[in-house]
Amino acid sequence: MKTFNIATIPADGIGPEVIEAGVAVLDALAARDGGYAFNFRTYDWGSDYYKAHCKMMPEDGLEQLKGHDAIFFGAVGAPDVPDHITLWGLRLPICQGFDQYANVRPTRILPGISPPLRDRGPGDLDWVIVRENSEGEYAGHGGRAHRGLPEEVATETAIFTRVGVARIMRHAFSLAQSRPRRMLTVVTKSNAQRHGMVMWDEIAAEVAAEFPDVTWDMMLVNAMTVRMTLNPASLDTIVATNLHADILSDLAGALAGSLGVAPTANIDPERRFPSMFEPIHGSAFDITGKGIANPVATFWTACQMLEHLGEVVPAQRLMKAVEDVCAAGILTPDVGGTATTREVTEAVIETIRGSNH
Ligand code: IPM
Ligand code: MG
Repeated sequence: MKTFNIATIPADGIGPEVIEAGVAVLDALAARDGGYAFNFRTYDWGSDYYKAHCKMMPEDGLEQLKGHDAIFFGAVGAPDVPDHITLWGLRLPICQGFDQYANVRPTRILPGISPPLRDRGPGDLDWVIVRENSEGEYAGHGGRAHRGLPEEVATETAIFTRVGVARIMRHAFSLAQSRPRRMLTVVTKSNAQRHGMVMWDEIAAEVAAEFPDVTWDMMLVNAMTVRMTLNPASLDTIVATNLHADILSDLAGALAGSLGVAPTANIDPERRFPSMFEPIHGSAFDITGKGIANPVATFWTACQMLEHLGEVVPAQRLMKAVEDVCAAGILTPDVGGTATTREVTEAVIETIRGSNH
């Protein structure tokens, strides 16, 4: 029997609630399927750990995570710890330290969920956003001088390397190639950002030559927001820089009905290190402890994790169960329902137990 060693980092806010739900669903899936199992190991890192130890994770945190097959991550962020500390103390060191350079964010309108756009439903919006996850505007380069004085200065430098851009383009083109429509939109801002973004466009054209069967086009990021809103069916796979894709993926989540269902995978495509799977929604302190967090994003990212681990059929079975439960109207309040986290989780587990395909 195959055993997958998974590190869970539930961390802050609703993170522990949704990760608990995700673990229950994955265990139920493995019990139904047989042939594989999960060995979860929980790490208590996050903002409470920070308050006790003045750091978000131990010095040798990456060392401890290294031997796992994947990382299942909840959310970071606390009202009483600055966001740049929680982000740069835990999530970014894992993404950057493990060179998880491809951030993959699928978006679809799930059945039973009403999106904010008039007359749209499942099938009108089926995208995967590929976010460059190792450099760009999140490279952390820059500094501040003359703090607090009138002449204070701050720089925030975006870094684009040929290696970094070429590898994310290749990942995006090959993902586009694997999808039925074989379409890729390269997002850019090369009219205003005339160095890094112009190189980005040039490398996109070079890599495109390796994928003659992929239809591709380029969009300025501002125009992209309009196209996503007014002509969603014209898009399929999308690749963008770290910051541009951060912004566009929030828009994508909103257009699909809720950030509560949006998943993300931080992937090291070369598999030198464990990849990390998480819901996009964040710690959501306003609903923490109320038992109404939407576990669907976590279930969806669990599907991404299963696919990454090579368990493609179980991933499809889990996604189908989630869609059936959504279609049956068993939804949390963020997507217009009245169900609790536990009710949605139990419904998905029941559906898995009853499924025979
Ligand atoms: C995301 C989030 C993060 C980001 C936040 C929490 C810093 O918005 O995963 O998209 O900007 O990357
Ligand atoms: Mg974001």
